[in-house]
Amino acid sequence: MFKRKKITVIGAGATGATTAHVMALKEMGDIVLVDVAEGIPEGKALDIWEAGPIERFSLKVSGSNSYEATRDSDVIVVTAGMPRKPGMSRDDLLKVNADIVYQVVEKAAKLSPEALLVVLSNPADVMAYVAQKASGFPYHRVIGQAGVLDSARFRTFLADALNVSPKDVTAFVMGGHGDDMVPLVRYSSVAGIPIEKLLPADTIEKIVQRTRTGGGEVLNLMKISAFYAPASSLAEMVQAMLKDERRVIPVISYLDGEYGEHDIFVGVPAIVGGNGIEKVLEVEFTDSERAAFAKSVASVRKPLSMLNY
Ligand code: 2OP
Repeated sequence: MFKRKKITVIGAGATGATTAHVMALKEMGDIVLVDVAEGIPEGKALDIWEAGPIERFSLKVSGSNSYEATRDSDVIVVTAGMPRKPGMSRDDLLKVNADIVYQVVEKAAKLSPEALLVVLSNPADVMAYVAQKASGFPYHRVIGQAGVLDSARFRTFLADALNVSPKDVTAFVMGGHGDDMVPLVRYSSVAGIPIEKLLPADTIEKIVQRTRTGGGEVLNLMKISAFYAPASSLAEMVQAMLKDERRVIPVISYLDGEYGEHDIFVGVPAIVGGNGIEKVLEVEFTDSERAAFAKSVASVRKPLSMLNY
């Protein structure tokens, strides 16, 4: 008997609810929205579900304050936690979000012991580490969201500078989801044409900088954290898993020796499929890329060392 996939989204705030909406539009599976706020997960889920006849998706979207509703989920998306406010860094959310993420993941993981975990809550690299500790899941089943979003910003700005479709721009960002993230210029292209052949170095550098502070740019404009592109990023990762697409995308993955790093979750290119992280891909670095990645990893280790999980 075939059953629809079941996706739980923990956190029915702007990002969580938008993620549920995007996944419903893509008809990815039954969706359960969970939040502590009374009425909010139920109301937002009902509102999304009622678009089904119009958007032609055949699935159930429901909401609950109880984790029982999440039982036997195939994928659990974690957006719970405080979003940053203007003037805050993602690391400023460390303590409060570590406690929230630990609690919600511990509860959800017990009811869905075979699920894949996708973590967006910030600081995302550290929250992925916390989620793995809270769930006890094998490392390959715990993935953080950052690189798809950061790379989407990078690709958007490159496409705009070249006046071409973003569909034809491939690029990826590595390292921590912070202001010293590493957009890999050398591995970025437009339909295979290296961007360094198409744009002057100073334009590329400006785009690299704008990518690094992309989250802050949106935050400063609308005074709340971005949620549309983060939601689309989460949906892309969930689809890669549910359909076992074996996508090559930048995600926050546990490193056990790759890139010479151990016992840390950080953004790297990886093959993402039905098992979560199928394989971390190790790209060659120039000396400056290696130094930039090492600096970004160090920026993740710093808050990580302040937790005692
Ligand atoms: C961002 O970069 C929310 O961290 C996320 O917008």
